[in-house]
Amino acid sequence: MEVSIAIKKRRSVRKFQTKPISPEIIEKLSDALIWAPSAGNLQSRKFYFVFNEGVRKKLALAANRQQPLWDAPLVIVCCVNEKSADKYGERGKKLFAVCDVAASIENMMLQAVELGLATLWMGAFDEGVVKEAVGLSENVRPVALVPVGYAAEDPDSPAHLAKEEIITRIN
Ligand SMILES: Cc1cc2nc3c(=O)[nH]c(=O)nc-3n(C[C@H](O)[C@H](O)[C@H](O)COP(=O)(O)O)c2cc1C
Repeated sequence: MEVSIAIKKRRSVRKFQTKPISPEIIEKLSDALIWAPSAGNLQSRKFYFVFNEGVRKKLALAANRQQPLWDAPLVIVCCVNEKSADKYGERGKKLFAVCDVAASIENMMLQAVELGLATLWMGAFDEGVVKEAVGLSENVRPVALVPVGYAAEDPDSPAHLAKEEIITRIN
C-alpha cells in the first residue's frame, strides 16, 4: 500500500473485534515503532504491549471505561522515558520525548493500516492508574493508550480544516 493511501485510510476506530493478532504482525508493528525519528536519536520512549485481559480492564477503568480498551486484543501503552531525554534538560523531557513517542505512534498506525488493522490514539486517562496497572517506574510517563485490532466498524472521515487555515507559505 502506498503511504499516501495509508495516511488517508487511517481512521480512529472505537469498535474492535476480539480476534487475536498474529506474532508476525506484532513484529511489524514493533519495527514501525522503533524506526521512527527521535531527538538526538535518544529514542526516549518505551512501549508496553498489553495482551493480558485483566490489565486491559484496569487500563479501561483508568480511561473512563472507554470501550476499545475492553475489546481490542492488544493495547500499546506508549510512554516517554524522561531519564534518557534528560540530556536535553526540561525541553528534552517535556517536549522532545513526547515528540519521539508521537512519531512512533503515527508510524505504527500507518503500518497497521497496511496490515488491515485498526487503531485508536487515546490520551484521556488517569496517569497514576495506568502507571500502577503496568508497573511503570518513576521516570516513565504514559502519553497514549493505543488499542490495536480488527475493526468492527468503518467510521466516516471527519472534516479537516482547509490547508490554508493550517499551512502558511513563506516564499
Ligand atoms: C493526542 C490525542 C489524544 C486523543 N485522545 C482520544 C481519546 O482519549 N479517546 C478517543 O476516543 N479518541 C481520542 N483521540 C482520537 C481523536 O479523537 C481523532 O484522532 C480525531 O477525532 C480525528 O479522527 P481520525 O483519527 O479518524 O482522523 C485522540 C487523538 C490524539 C491525537
